[in-house]
Amino acid sequence: MTKSIQIPQHIAIIMDGNGRWAEKRFLPRIAGHRQGAKNVRMVVQACRRLGVDYLTLFAFSTENWKRPRKEVDALLKLLIGFLADEMPEMLTNGIRFNVIGDLDMFPARVRSALIEGMERTAHLKDMVLTLALSYGGRDEIVRAVRHLVEKVQEGALPLEEIDESVLADFLDTRNMPDPDLLIRTSGEQRISNFLLWQLAYSEIFFTEVTWPEFDEQQFQRALEEYGRRQRRFGLTQAQILAGNDGGGR
Ligand code: IPE
Ligand code: IPE
Ligand code: MG
Repeated sequence: MTKSIQIPQHIAIIMDGNGRWAEKRFLPRIAGHRQGAKNVRMVVQACRRLGVDYLTLFAFSTENWKRPRKEVDALLKLLIGFLADEMPEMLTNGIRFNVIGDLDMFPARVRSALIEGMERTAHLKDMVLTLALSYGGRDEIVRAVRHLVEKVQEGALPLEEIDESVLADFLDTRNMPDPDLLIRTSGEQRISNFLLWQLAYSEIFFTEVTWPEFDEQQFQRALEEYGRRQRRFGLTQAQILAGNDGGGR
């Protein structure tokens, strides 16, 4: 893969379409999830090579718990296998493993495997791979607000001090920059409760290609498209071209 001009610091991906990939081939949906999990390795390696600092993958949403029990159980099993398979790769490549979402929702066995994965890689600094698991943007904001109100009630946080950066510090993504680029595979053009706060100014790339079929060439296309976007953050084009930070006048 050639290095494109502008590499996003943080890429987030909604890995969608595993089920449809499988159904089209008359395979059980879980075969699609298995294929999708394999594809994660490709995108992790490509990001590491390109110098992306943060890669955040939506792997299981708060709403996905409502899927048939059999599918949920198979996904949890796949997750444990993924973590075991990828751990050596992460350790060799300096990749810190991170999870966002409500870990309390997981069976203890899964939760401790995830925590162990985070602990074993906590010292690594070359890239952060975050899996969003039992993650919902609304749920994250509710958990953050509860925690914040608790601090206010304890007298540890004056109400007047609450601003955007204080609230952001209570989110699961504290210490992470907002995504520069969001990719969603498989044709759906919606956010589906992913990173609601953090995607405020992200560039969004939608593709018809399903996640198991999303290959390095497709990834390169997303990066090229990102390179052509002009991010304005509410300013005028003239201000951006003049290198103005929008401080007024
Ligand atoms: C994404 O693929 C993976 C998860 C949500 C766990 P889907 O399972 O949503 O696949 P489709 O959208 O049904 O094809
Ligand atoms: C979003 O995909 C969640 C993940 C990719 C993990 P869904 O398949 O759950 O989203 P909807 O239901 O199509 O919006
Ligand atoms: Mg889907």
